This record gives sequence, C-alpha cells and structure tokens, in this order.
Amino acid sequence: MKIYIDSSDIKEIKEINRTSLVDGITTNPSLIAKQNKDIKTILKEICKEIKGPVSAEVTAEDCAGMLKEAKVLKKIAKNIVIKLPLTYEGLKACSELSKKKVKTNVTLCFSVTQALMAAKCGATFVSPFIGRLDDIGENGVNLIKDIRKVFDNYKYLKTEILSASIRNIDHVKEVAKAGSDIATIPAKVFHEMYKHELTDKGLKIFLDDWKSANQKIS
Ligand code: E4P
Repeated sequence: MKIYIDSSDIKEIKEINRTSLVDGITTNPSLIAKQNKDIKTILKEICKEIKGPVSAEVTAEDCAGMLKEAKVLKKIAKNIVIKLPLTYEGLKACSELSKKKVKTNVTLCFSVTQALMAAKCGATFVSPFIGRLDDIGENGVNLIKDIRKVFDNYKYLKTEILSASIRNIDHVKEVAKAGSDIATIPAKVFHEMYKHELTDKGLKIFLDDWKSANQKIS
C-alpha cells in the first residue's frame, strides 16, 4: 500500500520524507488554512520536496469555477493532482479534466455509489473518508472493503482507492488488509506506525547488556 502524508506543513513533510516512505501528499483547504502562507507558495514547496502526486483542492462550487481553479493549480507543478469534491458539479469537472488527461482526486466520498460514479468519470483517485464515517457511528473500513469489491468486479475501472480521514494505526492496518491502494496519513499517526513497546523494551535490554560488558564499536 502506498503511503501519502495528509499535510500542508512543509517542515513535517520534509522530516518524514527522510525515510523515503512518502509516495505522495494530500492537502485540503482546512490544512492549507492552518499555514501562514499563500496556497501557491505552500504547494510549490511541497512539490519541490515530493516527486509523487500532490493533491490540491479547488474551492469553487460550480463546474466552470472548478475548471478555472484547476488551470491555476495545475500550473504550479507537474505532479499536482486536482482535488474535487464529490458533488454533481465535481463529477462534471472530473469528467472534463479526465478527458484532458489531467489527474484528479475526488474527495469527500462516503458511499459506494459515490465512488463508482467518480471512477466512471475517470477519477485517478477517489478518497473515502473513514474517520468521519466512524464519527457518525458507521464503519469506515467497511466502505473501503465494499469499494474494493466493486472496483475488482469491474476491471476497466482504473481509479485508485485513497483511504482518507485516517485517525489511528488500526485504520492503517485495516485499510491495508482491505486492499486500499493508498492511505493518506496525518504526521501524528505516521509516527505511531513504527513504534512498539517491545521494540523499546528490547533495545533497552540490549544497550544495558552492552554497557555492562564494557565494549565499544569503533
Ligand atoms: C483527505 O484527503 C483529507 O485531507 C483528510 O484525510 C481529511 O481528514 P479528517 O477527517 O481527519 O479531516
């Protein structure tokens, strides 16, 4: 499963990218708004650091406005992916952009029918939001399982499932088991993924033994 980082913070992106584990980035208007810089500067910096797809979201609500904004965003860097909301207008914009071979990420997906429509409009990625489904008492991971099944039934659908709104490492494990192509992960969850108490405990034992043996690697 590919790992994207769900962030607009260039400092945290650069730090995590030292692991070479970052396959792409997703941003959204709320994440961009948290930074004290304009959207173009933020995206330019991110695209310079990360060579994989970087999702940049439109904020217009009508198809014409979305296409106008997509034109501006696309010019920022070659790896920009146009993120569109899963609305009727967003689907029309997705179709238009797909015809022009522009990569798209259709976001705010909460159902199988929405995902199917995005895929049929030629979306490169569809982003089901699993944490927000859990928040309303539904099971977000089940949505990933269902979308995977539907997409596998129809091999001509080439859209990748980009699991979003990930809140914990259990979400990461479950969407990987469900066959999600990508998970977009907040920095905090990324830094929980490699941790294990037995790793820390084991390391302490090794280092204590080493110290008491009075040895050196040099
Ligand atoms: C995805 O592209 C979104 O940016 C993100 O995953 C939303 O997550 P949230 O529900 O934690 O805001």
